[in-house]
Amino acid sequence: MKAVVYEGPFTVSVKEVPDPRIEHPADAIIRVTTTCICGSDLHMYEGRTAAEPGIIFGHENMGVVVEIGSGVSRLKVGDRVVLPFNVACGHCRNCEAGFSAFCTEVNPGFAGGAYGYVAMGPYRGGQAQYLRVPYADYNALSLPAGTEFEEDFALLADIFPTGWHGVSLSGFQPGETIAIFGAGPVGLMAAYSAVLRGASRVYIVDKVAERLEKARLIGAIPINFAVSDPVEQIFEWTHGEGVDRGVDAVGYQAVHGDREVPNVVLDSLIRVVRPTGGIGVPGLYVPSDPGSGDMLAREGYLTLAFGKLFEKGLRLGTGQCNVKSYNRYLRDLIVAGKAKPSFVVSHELPLEAAPEAYDKFDRRVEGYTKVLLHPND
Ligand SMILES: NC(=O)c1ccc[n+]([C@@H]2O[C@H](COP(=O)([O-])OP(=O)(O)OC[C@H]3O[C@@H](n4cnc5c(N)ncnc54)[C@H](O)[C@@H]3O)[C@@H](O)[C@H]2O)c1
Ligand SMILES: [Zn+2]
Ligand SMILES: [Zn+2]
Repeated sequence: MKAVVYEGPFTVSVKEVPDPRIEHPADAIIRVTTTCICGSDLHMYEGRTAAEPGIIFGHENMGVVVEIGSGVSRLKVGDRVVLPFNVACGHCRNCEAGFSAFCTEVNPGFAGGAYGYVAMGPYRGGQAQYLRVPYADYNALSLPAGTEFEEDFALLADIFPTGWHGVSLSGFQPGETIAIFGAGPVGLMAAYSAVLRGASRVYIVDKVAERLEKARLIGAIPINFAVSDPVEQIFEWTHGEGVDRGVDAVGYQAVHGDREVPNVVLDSLIRVVRPTGGIGVPGLYVPSDPGSGDMLAREGYLTLAFGKLFEKGLRLGTGQCNVKSYNRYLRDLIVAGKAKPSFVVSHELPLEAAPEAYDKFDRRVEGYTKVLLHPND
């Protein structure tokens, strides 16, 4: 089959690789109908992780079941499913408690597994024609048959639940105000979730014009951080009060001016969230960043205004999204016509277009906001 393979910094290629096969009775194989490129893939693509050449990328996958192991009882061949980016067992302590992003069984020595991601276990990615799904009865979310809502359902693998999770991590309640840093796919989904959940005002910070425009169209207030300090701009809007909640949908590769400054978003959130408010951090931070120019950041340390955080009594929530806690409900909002997350999708392309799509999405040019690949078209 064909798959998107990482070759080294800033290079992926589409190559022939062996087809996946059932390796365990609880496995299923799916024929991938849609798989997305994620901002998380860019950390690997840019050579800013320990990812080795040869990884098949792709953790945002949906498709049709073509084969099941002898231990699979709920799924049938022909079922249409979307897979959380998390690979999880369903029966460990964390899975049982709903924390499927921190499964202790699927990636020995580590809490959490994923498809096609460095350090997240041996699971191949789905930017390929076929994908092996471990613990398939637990991991696969069933979808209505057919092709309706394909673009919306594809976003249930990661960014819609992750945006929702960021808002939940912040402790958000209906009626509150919220500032989202980052208008990439995750930030846009966080803003959209806050709108759906009844925020009184949603501010969203970025500098990429097309992304801020998408945010404006769903009713968020765009703040361009290239114009002036975004915290000062939000203080102006709020008469100096700041916001109830904040979300970091940027992560450790945050930029300030034309350089990377890994703590700039967290420090801005500590300033802009009002005393006793909350901050959610779905944006990725890493325990070591060998490619960083900053000595502390290389070891995974950041300097933060922790004293201010304490003085203001702020709460902070972090971590990978437990996609299974949300995806069923978000699917039902889509089916009921109450959510249409696919407004973020900018490009739908065949698998062969992946090298060019990675390059343009990485440079955030030509409106590349969210790319969906269709490997079997
Ligand atoms: N927690 C999870 O489960 C989870 C899941 C998916 C993605 N992520 C992480 O979420 C983050 C965002 O993902 P994405 O797909 O939207 O990525 P992306 O790279 O497309 O978007 C990031 C956006 O942040 C903007 N940005 C950079 N510096 C900024 C600053 N100082 N202030 C405001 N905006 C700034 C960029 O212009 C860009 O538009 C990444 O770190 C990704 O790894 C986490
Ligand atoms: Zn993703
Ligand atoms: Zn588990």
